Amino acid sequence: MSTGNDAIVGKPLSRVDGHLKVTGGARYAAEFPVAKITHAVTVQSTISKGKIARIDTKAAEKVPGVLAVMTHLNAPKASGDQGGGRKLQLLQDNIVLYDRQHIAVVIADTLEQAIHGASLVKVRYDEQKPNINIKDNLDKAYLPKSKLPRNEPTDSSSGNFSQALATAAVRVEQTYTTPIENHNPMEPHATTAAWQGDQLLLYDATQGIFQAQKKVAGALGIPPTNVRTMSYFVGGGFGCKGSAWSHVVLAAMAARLVNRPVKLVLGRMQMYGPVGFRPETIQQVSLGATREGKLIALRHTGVSQTSTFDEFIEPVAKTAKMIYASEHIETSHRLVPLDMGTPTYMRAPGEASGSFALESAMDELAYALNIDPIELRLRNYAEVDPTKQLPWSSKSLKECYTLGAEKFGWQKRNPKPRSMRDGNYLIGWGMATATYPTNRSPASAIAQIMADGTAVVRSGSQDIGTGTYTVMTQVAAEALGLPVEKIRFELGDTNMPETPVSGGSQTAASVGSAVHLAGNQARSKILQLALADQRSPLYGLNPEDVIAQNGSLFSKDKSSSKTETYEGILERHGLKMLEARADAKPGDEKEHYSMHSFGSQFAEVRVNPDSGEVRVTRWVGTYGVGRILNDKTARSQLIGGIVYGIGMALMEHTISDPKRGRFINADLAEYHVPVNADVPVIDVMFVPENDPHINPLGIKGIGEIGITGVAAAIANAVYHATGKRIRDLPITLDKLL
Ligand code: MOS
Repeated sequence: MSTGNDAIVGKPLSRVDGHLKVTGGARYAAEFPVAKITHAVTVQSTISKGKIARIDTKAAEKVPGVLAVMTHLNAPKASGDQGGGRKLQLLQDNIVLYDRQHIAVVIADTLEQAIHGASLVKVRYDEQKPNINIKDNLDKAYLPKSKLPRNEPTDSSSGNFSQALATAAVRVEQTYTTPIENHNPMEPHATTAAWQGDQLLLYDATQGIFQAQKKVAGALGIPPTNVRTMSYFVGGGFGCKGSAWSHVVLAAMAARLVNRPVKLVLGRMQMYGPVGFRPETIQQVSLGATREGKLIALRHTGVSQTSTFDEFIEPVAKTAKMIYASEHIETSHRLVPLDMGTPTYMRAPGEASGSFALESAMDELAYALNIDPIELRLRNYAEVDPTKQLPWSSKSLKECYTLGAEKFGWQKRNPKPRSMRDGNYLIGWGMATATYPTNRSPASAIAQIMADGTAVVRSGSQDIGTGTYTVMTQVAAEALGLPVEKIRFELGDTNMPETPVSGGSQTAASVGSAVHLAGNQARSKILQLALADQRSPLYGLNPEDVIAQNGSLFSKDKSSSKTETYEGILERHGLKMLEARADAKPGDEKEHYSMHSFGSQFAEVRVNPDSGEVRVTRWVGTYGVGRILNDKTARSQLIGGIVYGIGMALMEHTISDPKRGRFINADLAEYHVPVNADVPVIDVMFVPENDPHINPLGIKGIGEIGITGVAAAIANAVYHATGKRIRDLPITLDKLL
């Protein structure tokens, strides 16, 4: 049997949750009306390293409405170290490990009372001098104990890089740096925690309800089945909501302490430290090539910061292993422990920061060789994964370069720096390669066809603003043979079938596979019911001769009028509902194929030669990212990634006080992100791909590739405009004068 509904997937359907979002009907973690709710506000450390010598909570406790002040002196027992990274600080001792560590929680009847109470908590510290500068502490760089994501080793070597580099006719060896950046999702971190006996209910702003469930249960020493986590809407995550941080557990502990539900929201400034950030990186790229532009040696090394008590690696050099055909490739990652919070994933962790270095270096090599930057990349096009020596499951990078160059008008570019002008302004054109791996994890879903001919499909998962509700509605509609209006797709509850974290651009591929499978199985069941039933007009037909469309089964034979609705079938069998559950997981495809998305980024910048001000004036991005589930939401994801990259290139930089290590621009007034006036019209195009190897629907994932290569494309355009090569992000105007 087939469905005649294949056109549903891919359509630019507007968000099915759009109405709820624009009318305030979408409830976020801090917006659930819970009876007898209390409000918790955390007090954060004002030093980066030391001990709490004395904490005086008396004045806070006297504030009317304040119910309790939780500190290390009275906090319930909890364990912040469950292995697997992201150690939590749960008020179990008086040690301060970083600036803005939570050191007390004030719980009150109203938010105002809690804020006032928190302002009255007095703390005396034994302050120690913190190590907060990565460059001053490079002697402490060490080989991490943990591995890169997906269990990749921290270091790799194929061939003999050093020997090969020595023989290279042309070399580029440069150091590039990227600063600390903070995520700043529109919705801050927030948790509502309520105990019902020994059951804990959590409404949490999270990218991973099941991870949060396990983490909180582990920290509190209770079974995960005693924790139910819900997250129906998330106002942006970008990676910082990919782990459950200390405040989530603290909310649950506070609710225990006052024996009432607790709502805990972090303020914007409170998010600079205890919930991760993109770490500062120092990267070295060495490229050795023949005069003809053939790469023979490629090395990418990264040093990034971590905390003194935990490891997070920004895997900057991962891409270097697979992106260009070089016989000799070496990569490594080292960590420098600093007295700051533990860094974390931020949109394309590693690929975004690493591509700035590698794709800048490729541009430098193009200039050193006097070869066009696209031509240089084509001369080093990897026909197979150079390190794994595996074929690609699909790769449309050549098509992306061609389409991008054509749309952008690249052939009109005069490569000479400072050669293109618009009046007094210097114009620069730059490009870079984009790439991101295709990830997928086990996921489950349940599909129910109801007696009224509608369907409900459920799968734990999250919609972090990316459009999960919408694209899964489309996938379910296609599989079930129903119109999208008849599908209700539900997510965001650990009582639903288990799914992975919405990180690593894997939700569509993972959850989509499960929804597809569950939908297909439910449709098969209803078909079997009909075909085996003498009362059905379809009785006795072969399954292959039946089409499911718009909630009805039809005979494929056009001359036959045999048809029956889902409602009719269920009614005749006295069924209120027919359901199928599917557990979908990846097979061994990664052993046979290297699986990645590819794309190209083309930037035009206009530089004011007097002020050094850089404006991005034009953008073309072309991507081969597998099957597009929804042309509108997909385009939005890519545009969002590019905008994020513009911020990375030109603005974003979390600055710390050089003596005490406190972040000093911890708000949206001083931490600059792009606004509409900073963003040009962005032209996003997809190269159609049909990848039969990666997963049943051929989905590659699009949440992160959009930012990759963006900062390099801008830096390369700035070089073309000004003749100045900026190797340290962000490219602020002072660096151009
Ligand atoms: Mo993404 S930084 O893997 O949430």
